[in-house]
Amino acid sequence: MLKHINPTKTSSWKDLQAHFLEIKDKSIKDHFRNNSGRVEELSRQFNDIYLDFSKNHLTKETVGLLVKLASELSLNEAIQAMKAGEKINEREGRAVLHTALRSKEDEIRMNGQNLIPLVRKELDHVKVIANDIQSGRWIGHTGKRIKHLVNIGIGGSDLGPQMVCNALKPYWKNITPHFLSNIDASHWEEIKENIHPEETIFIIASKTFTTDETMTNAQTVRTWFLNQLGSQEALRKHFIAISTNLEEVENFGIPKENILGFWDWVGGRFSLWSSIGLSIACTIGWSNFEAILDGAREMDDHFFSEDFDKNLPVLLALISIWQVNFWGYSSKAILPYDHNLRDLPRFLQQLLMESNGKQMDRTGKRITYSTCPVLFGEPGTNGQHAFFQLLHQGTDIIPSDFIVAAVASHSQEQHHSKLLSNCFAQSEALMDGQVSDDPFRNFDGNRPSNTLVIKELLPRNLGSLIALYEHQVFVQGVVWNIYSFDQWGVELGKQLAKKINNKEASSNSSTNELLNKVQSFRS
Ligand code: F6P
Repeated sequence: MLKHINPTKTSSWKDLQAHFLEIKDKSIKDHFRNNSGRVEELSRQFNDIYLDFSKNHLTKETVGLLVKLASELSLNEAIQAMKAGEKINEREGRAVLHTALRSKEDEIRMNGQNLIPLVRKELDHVKVIANDIQSGRWIGHTGKRIKHLVNIGIGGSDLGPQMVCNALKPYWKNITPHFLSNIDASHWEEIKENIHPEETIFIIASKTFTTDETMTNAQTVRTWFLNQLGSQEALRKHFIAISTNLEEVENFGIPKENILGFWDWVGGRFSLWSSIGLSIACTIGWSNFEAILDGAREMDDHFFSEDFDKNLPVLLALISIWQVNFWGYSSKAILPYDHNLRDLPRFLQQLLMESNGKQMDRTGKRITYSTCPVLFGEPGTNGQHAFFQLLHQGTDIIPSDFIVAAVASHSQEQHHSKLLSNCFAQSEALMDGQVSDDPFRNFDGNRPSNTLVIKELLPRNLGSLIALYEHQVFVQGVVWNIYSFDQWGVELGKQLAKKINNKEASSNSSTNELLNKVQSFRS
């Protein structure tokens, strides 16, 4: 189990506080001036991912102290506990084993049961369906080839598959994916315009199979579909479900052979590697999906075995701790300079904020230090023409993660050269600033960032990148002494929405008045 250590009570935390006081008045530029070897010291590479963290308020000594903090907080033991299938998601009594989904080991046990045969069986099912759909062997009820898929899910059952499909657009073959998530029917109306029921497969993706948005959308789509094709039998050729709640899926009327399972030891936001990845495998083909799993596994092996000071996820997490808890930065910008990675900020919002946006520590005491920063972002260069003003001259300092591929996923070299130039120019401008006599044109600089350069946005490298951020979440949670794998904070709103929708009177006069106003506007 994870230990319950308040990080602020450790000697390493105190050392870091003292160290902060020593270096806080030095600018990042000063650090560069004082050390010609700074970039080599403060950059690391694993496979095709290079991390430059030299443009931060830190030195080699800072890294050493942060690594000491991780050790004092038993990070290694925590990693082993996760790997060993201990129920480290204690508040839900569950293990956390998304890494088993991409493992090549023959045996990963939980409660004495080997999980690997279960994983392989479900992934084999994904493979068969993906191959059948891609090759045209799977044909629709009226004999037509499947050309579209609609993934009906939300949160972890939507964001990961959607982000990956869009990131790997150059690999799309024969199938166009659509992602239906919002309970606002405009979303469905929009998708409906671009598909035809005879050529479309609907994948209902829901870990619990009780999520209101997904169930409401699934019912609406089913009714529409039956109205169009008129036969219950047609569902067999067009509806697939993925869930841990097999009973509910059968109640919905999905035939057994079209049901894919996964397990409660896979968190929704960590589930794209499971059968939840079906929409990815159908869109880019099984071998490319497998390459994503391979890349993630390589990052897992690196995370599990590499020394902390060379370990990319550990370093990324420790740098964020340094920024949040010592420098007091409460936001973070995620800036992929890659149109295909445009959904990465949204995906990471759920991954990080739903995991680590917590106020209770592992003993149930209210935390007195900050935890997860607010994440936001946009792909470059679009963000430059929207919120970068604030990054450069706003009153708050917001650390950024710049992410860019060295090799473009298209052949327009001139565009890519400009994209790369903009990416590197921005991190340099944020750090270096520019002195001007005109105060309005002055750039203070000294604004921190990481830059991740990926050789090329191949499926394998994307898998590694996602796993990198997944493990960052885990390390942050260990340090902050919180439970990262539950999400109780989303429950209250769901309950109230149900009550309001059932017309139960609210005790809140503002809510009641809003409902009255809606009624009067609608009458
Ligand atoms: O918003 C809460 C949440 O439970 C997420 O954690 C999850 O990814 C999402 O809803 C969807 O849940 P499900 O896959 O069970 O429909």
